[in-house]
Amino acid sequence: MLEPRLATSIFLWLLAWRSAPMVESAIGVNWGTVSFRKLRPSIVVDLLKDNNIPKVKLFEAEADVLTALKGSRIEVMLGIPNEMLSLLSSSPSAADLWVRQNVSSYLGKGGVSIRYIAVGNEPFLTSYNSQFQNLVMPAVLNLQQSLVKANLAGSVKLVVPCNADVYQSSLPSQGVFRPDLTQIMTQLLQFLNSNGSPFIVNIYPFLSLYDDGDFPQDYAFFEGTTHPVTDGANVYTNAFDGNYDTLVAALTKLGYGQMPIVIGEIGWPSDGAIGANITAAKVFNQGLINHVLSNKGTPLRPNSPPMDIYIFSLLDEGAKSTLPGNFERHWGIFSFDGKAKYPLNLGLENKQLKNAKNVQYLPSRWCVASPSSDLTNVANHMRLACGVADCTTLEYGGSCNGIGAKGNVSYAFNSYYQLQMQDSRSCNFDGQAVVTSVDPSVGGCKFLLGVTDKESDSSCSLTYKLWVLGFVFILQGMFYYLN
Ligand SMILES: *[C@@H]1O[C@H](CO)[C@@H](O)[C@H](O)[C@H]1NC(C)=O
Ligand SMILES: *[C@@H]1O[C@H](CO)[C@@H](O)[C@H](O)[C@H]1NC(C)=O
Ligand SMILES: *[C@@H]1O[C@H](CO)[C@@H](O)[C@H](O)[C@H]1NC(C)=O
Repeated sequence: MLEPRLATSIFLWLLAWRSAPMVESAIGVNWGTVSFRKLRPSIVVDLLKDNNIPKVKLFEAEADVLTALKGSRIEVMLGIPNEMLSLLSSSPSAADLWVRQNVSSYLGKGGVSIRYIAVGNEPFLTSYNSQFQNLVMPAVLNLQQSLVKANLAGSVKLVVPCNADVYQSSLPSQGVFRPDLTQIMTQLLQFLNSNGSPFIVNIYPFLSLYDDGDFPQDYAFFEGTTHPVTDGANVYTNAFDGNYDTLVAALTKLGYGQMPIVIGEIGWPSDGAIGANITAAKVFNQGLINHVLSNKGTPLRPNSPPMDIYIFSLLDEGAKSTLPGNFERHWGIFSFDGKAKYPLNLGLENKQLKNAKNVQYLPSRWCVASPSSDLTNVANHMRLACGVADCTTLEYGGSCNGIGAKGNVSYAFNSYYQLQMQDSRSCNFDGQAVVTSVDPSVGGCKFLLGVTDKESDSSCSLTYKLWVLGFVFILQGMFYYLN
C-alpha cells in the first residue's frame, strides 16, 4: 500500500498533470537569434522553462538551439528560411536530407518536441515580388514525402506562416485572398486540411499604425476604441479581431471556414519609433494575452477554444536589418540579455516575467566620450561605431533621442566597445574616448553592458584547474622517467 503522504502527492501531481495541457494551451514565443550578443541557448531554454512558456517558434534549425531544447518538452515550430525553398522544391533528396539532419536526429526519447515545420517565412509577402511564390507548394509536397518516408507524417505537421497581406478587404466579412494567390492558396488549404494542419498568420497592428497616419491609434489596442468598425451585425473594437475575421472570411470563401488558425507572430516593439515604447508594448501584449485567454474569440468565431499565438518576440535582436524601421531591433518582451522589459502576466501561476539566470555580463565598464574631447572628426567615428553596433535608440522616436550631442557620441562609442567585448583598443577613437566605471545611462536611455556566451569562469572551477595542473605534472614526471 502506498504511504498516505506519497499517495496524496501522486494524486496532486496527477491533478496538476491533467490540468496542465489546458493551462498551457495558448501563449508561445518566437525565438530569433539575429543578435550580436547571444545568450547561451541553454540560458534561453531555462528562461522559457522558468516562465512556463510551453512553445517556441524558431526561424531555422540551429544545432546549438535545438540541442539546448532537448529534453525540455517545449513544443517547437521549426522554420525553414525562404532561401532554402528553391532547393527543397526541386530536389526530393534534399528534402529527405533536411528532414534527416534537422528533424529526425533531434526526435525520440529525451529529444526535441518538434510539432510543426514552417516551410518558408512569409514567402508570399508582396515585397518579395513573387520570387518564392511558386516554390512553396512543391517544397511542401517534397517535405511531406520525406516525413512519410521517415514515419513522421503523423506527428510532425507542415505549415506555411503567411503575412496578413495574403488577404485583403475593407470589412472583415468581405475578406478574400489576394487574387494572385487564389490558385496557390486553394492548393495550400487543401493540403493543410487533409493533413490536419492549421493556417499560420502573422498579424501586426503596430505596422498598420506605423504605416498609416490615419489609422486610429486606439483601434490597434484592446482597450476599446472611439473608432469601432461596424460590419453588418458585428462591431469590431480592435484591429486584431478585424484582421483575424478577414482571414476567417477568406478561408470560408474557399470552403475552409472551420480551419484552425494559429497566430505565428504578433507583438509590439518597445523602442526605435514614435509609438514604439515600453508602455505601448506592455499595454498591447497584455491586452492581447488577456483577450486570447478569455476564450471570447472573435465575432466570426465566438467562444472558440483558446487561440494559439506566438508572441514576437522573446528577445531583442540587435543585428536585424533596420530596413523595416529602427523598431525592428526592439520587439523582445525581454531585452537582449534576458531581462524582462516590463511586467507581463502570461496567465500562468507566475504573474510576472522572470529574468534569465546565470547571464555572464562583461565587467561594469563603459566607454564614453572623453570629458576633454572637443568632438572633432567625431562624425566619422560615430559612423564607424554605429555602422557595426546598434545605435537605433538614438534616432527619432528612440529612447536615447535627446541625450545631447556628447551623449550621442558616448552612446555610439559604448555600443561599439561592448560589441568588441570591451577590448581596450576599441575605446580610443583618436584619444577622444575613455573607459568609465560609472554607468552613463540617463533616464530611460540605457547604456548597454555586453554579455558573453562563454561558460562562466567560476563554473570552470578551481578544482578543475588544479586537476589539469596535476595532470600536467604527472605527464612531466612520466616524461622524465622515460628519459
Ligand atoms: C538544416 O538547417 C540548417 C539551418 O537552416 C541549414 O543550414 C542546413 O543546410 C539544413 N540541413 C540540410 C541537410 O538541409
Ligand atoms: C507610446 O506609444 C503610444 C502609442 O503606441 C503613444 O500613444 C504614447 O504617447 C507613447 N508614449 C511615449 C512616452 O512616447
Ligand atoms: C543625436 O543623434 C540623433 C541620431 O542621429 C540625432 O537625431 C540628434 O539630433 C542628435 N543630437 C544632437 C544634439 O546632435
